[in-house]
Amino acid sequence: MSSLLPIRTDEEEDHLFRLLRQLDLAPQASQRALATAVNISLGRLNALLRSATDTGLIKITQSDSTDKRKRVAYELTPRGGSEKNRLTNAFLKRKFAEYDALHAELTGTTLGFSPFNHRTKLMQNNLAPIPELYVSFDSAQKMKMEAADLTSHDLTPRQICDLELLMNGGFNPLKGFMSEADYNGVVNDMRLADGALWPMPITLDVKADYADTVEIGQDIALRDQEGVILGTMTVTDKWTPNKAVEAEKVFGADDSAHPAVNYLHNTAGDVYLGGPVTGIQQPVHYDFRGRRDTPNELRAYFRKMGWRKVVAFQTRNPLHRAHQELTFRAAKEAQANLLIHPVVGLTKPGDVDHFTRVRCYEAVLDQYPASTTAMSLLNLAMRMAGPREAVWHGLIRKNHGCTHFIVGRDHAGPGNNSQGEDFYGPYDAQDLFRTHQEEMGIEMVDFKHMVWVSERAQYEAMDEIKDKENVTILNISGTELRRRLAEGLEIPEWFSFPQVVAELRKTKPARSNQGFTVFLTGFSGSGKSTIANALMVKLMEMGGRPVTLLDGDIVRKNLSSELGFSKEHRDLNIRRIGYVASEITKNGGIAICAPIAPYATTRRAVREDIEEFGAFIEVHVATSIEECERRDRKGLYKLAREGKIKEFTGISDPYDVPENPEMSMETENVEVDNCAHQIILKLESMGLIKA
Ligand code: PPS
Repeated sequence: MSSLLPIRTDEEEDHLFRLLRQLDLAPQASQRALATAVNISLGRLNALLRSATDTGLIKITQSDSTDKRKRVAYELTPRGGSEKNRLTNAFLKRKFAEYDALHAELTGTTLGFSPFNHRTKLMQNNLAPIPELYVSFDSAQKMKMEAADLTSHDLTPRQICDLELLMNGGFNPLKGFMSEADYNGVVNDMRLADGALWPMPITLDVKADYADTVEIGQDIALRDQEGVILGTMTVTDKWTPNKAVEAEKVFGADDSAHPAVNYLHNTAGDVYLGGPVTGIQQPVHYDFRGRRDTPNELRAYFRKMGWRKVVAFQTRNPLHRAHQELTFRAAKEAQANLLIHPVVGLTKPGDVDHFTRVRCYEAVLDQYPASTTAMSLLNLAMRMAGPREAVWHGLIRKNHGCTHFIVGRDHAGPGNNSQGEDFYGPYDAQDLFRTHQEEMGIEMVDFKHMVWVSERAQYEAMDEIKDKENVTILNISGTELRRRLAEGLEIPEWFSFPQVVAELRKTKPARSNQGFTVFLTGFSGSGKSTIANALMVKLMEMGGRPVTLLDGDIVRKNLSSELGFSKEHRDLNIRRIGYVASEITKNGGIAICAPIAPYATTRRAVREDIEEFGAFIEVHVATSIEECERRDRKGLYKLAREGKIKEFTGISDPYDVPENPEMSMETENVEVDNCAHQIILKLESMGLIKA
C-alpha cells in the first residue's frame, strides 16, 4: 500500500495532529484560537489548513456566524478522522519514547514504553487502554450525516464481525481492512507489511461490479444489513486476490471441504478493498447485551478487580464437566483468574447455535468461583484455520487484556478434508503458538485431555493416570453426544451438568420430536399427490406434530400463481416450496411436498436448505411417462402432444431422474395405501417417528 499523504517531518506531523484534534474538538473556533492551540503563527496555520484541505483531511464549511472572523469554519472528513487516529498513536509513541529516555537517564533503567499511570500505580501493559478506531460522539454524528453522500457497502455477516473487532481494538494493531501489501505479507509469512505478527487475512471482499464503482482515495460508508452506518473506510487499495493461493497458504489446502475455503470460493466477492477505517458506532446486538464486552471494557474490569493474570478459554461448544475441570486446572497452573470467552459470531457450520450455548454457559456459571471467574461473549467470525487460528485467537485475547490462553488438541479444527483426513495435525496449533508466544506477549496453557475415572469418581488428565490398566476410563465424544441427543438416550451426570443437558434437549430434541420434510418428485400424474394425501392422513392419525401438505397444485394456486413452466419459473416455484418446508421443519413440523421438481440442482439446493434444520426424505415416484400418459387424468398429456401446452415435463421438457433418493417407488402395481405405508416404515427406521 502506498500512503497517499505527503511525507512530513516530526514537527509537521505534530502540528497536523494538534490541528486535527482541535478541529475535532471545536470546529467553530476562530483562526486565532486555532493558531494558539496548535502553537503556530497565523501565517503557518493558513498554510497548514490549505494543505490539509488539499489532501482531503478537512473540508471548508460556511458558518452563519455574524462574526466575520468566524465565517469560514473547517471540519474533519472521515479520512481526516482516521489520520487523526494514526497521528494520535504516533504522538503517544514519541512521547513514550521521550519519557522512557528521561527515565533511563535518571534511573539507569528503562520502562519499556508503559507510561500510562492509573492514579499512582503503574498500569500493566495488558490492563492499559488499547487504541480503538472510534471517533468522538460529536464527530460520529457529523459523519453519519455526511455519509448520506458516500457510496455505501452493505457488510456481510462475517464482515460485520470483523469490523466490530477492528473498531473496538480486538484486532489491534490493524487500523482497517487490509491493504494489498499487508494481505500479501499475512498470506505468505503471517506478517503485516511493517513486520508485525498477524496470521489471518482481514479483507473487505466485494463483488467485481461494485468494485468498479469505487475509486482509490474515495471514502465509502460501511453499513449493516439494516442500512445503519457503522463506519467509513478510505479506500487505499483495490485488487483481485488469487484465492487458490490464499486457500493453500492460510488454510493449508485449496479444498472446499474446509469451511473457510468454501466461503472464500463460493461466498466471498472476487475483489478486495483495503484502507483505514473510522469507527462511528458498534454493531447493534439485541441479545445478551450485558454479556458482551469490548477489549477496553474487559481491561477496565480486570483493573477494577485487581486481576493481574487472566487465562482465557476459547470455545464454540457448550461446557461440560471435562471443560470445567480443564479450565480449573489451567487457572491453577497459570495462577491466574479465568475468563470464559466463547465465540458468538460465526462458528463452524452445524455447531449448536449461540443462543442455546449462552443459556448453557449461564446455567453452569455458578459452578465457578465468582471472585476469580468471568464470562464474556466474543463476536468473532471464526475461520477454523487450526494453527493460524490459534495464534490469531491468542492475539485477540491479548487485546482483551488476557495474559494466558488455553490451546487444545486440534484447536479450531475444520473437520475432515475431501479425502476424509484431518486438515492439520492434532498438535500443530500448540506448536505454532509456542513458536510465537514470546513475540505475541501471551502465554499458552496447553490443553489436557480430561477423562472420567470411574473408580475414583473424578476427572483426571489422561497423560497423568499411572494405573490405566486397573481403572475404568470413560469419555463421550462430540459425535456420541449428538447421537445420544438425537436418539433421546441418557446422558450421564459424570459427563455433563443436568441444566446443560436440559438446554440442549430443548434445542435438539430427539429425532422423533424434530421436524422433517418428505419431498415427493415425479411426472405429472405419477401419483405424487395421492400418495402425499394418504401419507398426511396417516401422520395426522398418529398425532404429535403438525403436518402441512405442499402439493404442486396447491402451491401453484396459493404461492406461485404468477409463475409458468419455464426453467426459471419452475426453479423459483421449487425454491419457494423449499423455503416454506424449511421453516416448517425448523419449527418442529412435518412438511410433505409433492411438486414435479424436474431439475436435480434445484432439488439439491432445497435439500441443503432443509437439512440445516431436520431430515429431508426424497421420494421418487417413479411411474413411467408411458403410464402417466396412459392415465392422463387431467387430459394434459393429450394437449401436450398436440402442442397446445408447451414445455410439458416428459414430453417437451426434461426430467432429471433422482440419482440417490431416500426412496424410489413404482405405483403401477402397488396400492396407494401401500406406497404411503412404505414411507411410514422408512420414517420409523430413521427414528423420525416412533414405532
Ligand atoms: S414444477 O415443474 O415442479 O414447478 O411443476 P408443479 O408446480 O409441480 O406443477 C405441475 C402441475 O402443473 C400442471 N402443468 C404442467 N406440468 C408440467 N409441465 C407443464 N408444462 C405444465 N403445465 C401445467 C400439471 O397439472 C402438474 O400437476 P401434477 O399434480 O404434477 O399432475
